[in-house]
Amino acid sequence: MENRPQNQRIVSGMRPSGRLHLGHYHGVLKNWLQLQEANDCFYFVADWHALTTDYENPQGIPDATWEMVIDWLAVGIDPAKAVLFVQSAVKQHAELNLLLSMLTPLPWLERVPTFKDQQQRLAERNLATYGFLGYPLLQSADILIYKADGVPVGEDQLSHLDITRQVARRFNWLYGREADHESKVEASLKKMPKKTTARFKKLRSAWRESGDAEALEAGKALLSEQDNLGPEDRERLLGELEGRGLEILPEPDPLLTPAAKFPGLDGQKMSKSYGNTIALREEPDEVETKIRTMPTDPARVRRIDPGTPEKCPVWELHKIYSAHETRAWAHEGCTTAGIGCVDCKGPVIEAVLAEQEPIRRRAQDLAAHPERVWEIVHEGNQKAARIAEETLAEVRAVMGLAR
Ligand code: TRP
Ligand code: SF4
Repeated sequence: MENRPQNQRIVSGMRPSGRLHLGHYHGVLKNWLQLQEANDCFYFVADWHALTTDYENPQGIPDATWEMVIDWLAVGIDPAKAVLFVQSAVKQHAELNLLLSMLTPLPWLERVPTFKDQQQRLAERNLATYGFLGYPLLQSADILIYKADGVPVGEDQLSHLDITRQVARRFNWLYGREADHESKVEASLKKMPKKTTARFKKLRSAWRESGDAEALEAGKALLSEQDNLGPEDRERLLGELEGRGLEILPEPDPLLTPAAKFPGLDGQKMSKSYGNTIALREEPDEVETKIRTMPTDPARVRRIDPGTPEKCPVWELHKIYSAHETRAWAHEGCTTAGIGCVDCKGPVIEAVLAEQEPIRRRAQDLAAHPERVWEIVHEGNQKAARIAEETLAEVRAVMGLAR
């Protein structure tokens, strides 16, 4: 059993990529839907992130944002359960990005693997820009500004989560120590028996000077056993033990979305760049045509030639969409040439259409009432800004910008 997060602050963004496809639905959106049930979720359109790579051709962004938001709502992202907003409408992200940039060492950004990878993959664009280098820091600001506990991301984004945590740690270390830190630590230590204090100091240097992880654990255990310490003392001494400041910006955990590759029409991972997608809102005839013309096991040249389902992309779809009996029927029929590929594709077409039907209906309804959609986004923007502003007020204060 995977463990499902509960009562956590969850933040995730998606670059505006227009109409989404079945791969997005099975990979990302179903996960978002589950999370919104028991958590405090913030889902946003990362339109500033789109500009880091598409600044030369930004014309498509408004439409792509619109279509994507409709898809989110159509699959059931519920504004009563999750805050849905557009990044560029919440200016606080930009301010936090700026403030964090002051303390972020350049090598941290230069080292992020996606920086060089993407520059190579998109070699025709000039990505030797300040904005593109700062991509992961902007993402850090997106996350830290809501003090997220968890961030659902794919594997490709893990390095961005790492830098987010590093930046938070550095921030807390720089600004999370109270002015009279030393004397406060002394006062907290005095609340413990002398012997315990001495042991605490020993464990602290064993961890901080020699990196002894057992000492760190022993120190934590020791603190949790002290009845005399208030929550603030405990937090302060824990920070002292670990060598970090108070948690102004908590370090978020990645919630790794399993990289289950949703199969595209050609058997490769479904992706716009491969041109092998079925859109969530694809017209039914189009869905039928696309699946009818899908390649199958090349060994089945004629109807009487038996095939191997494991070599066929249609089989990959059966594995996702078909119940046990249908799968058994397809497998048996394929390997014995009992059924033809056209027969085999039938149930897959049915299942995809059935899945899309309510989504398509809701999307049509939403598209017919744009003012409702804008209202939802507008409210989301405001809710997000309110919370972002709270964090930013704390950040400004510790960075010397309070009035
Ligand atoms: N970089 C992410 C992607 O390409 C999108 C993103 C931007 C994001 N900000 C975020 C994801 C904050 C999670 C949290 O998929
Ligand atoms: Fe693929 Fe089904 Fe044809 Fe076998 S019968 S090759 S699994 S489409």
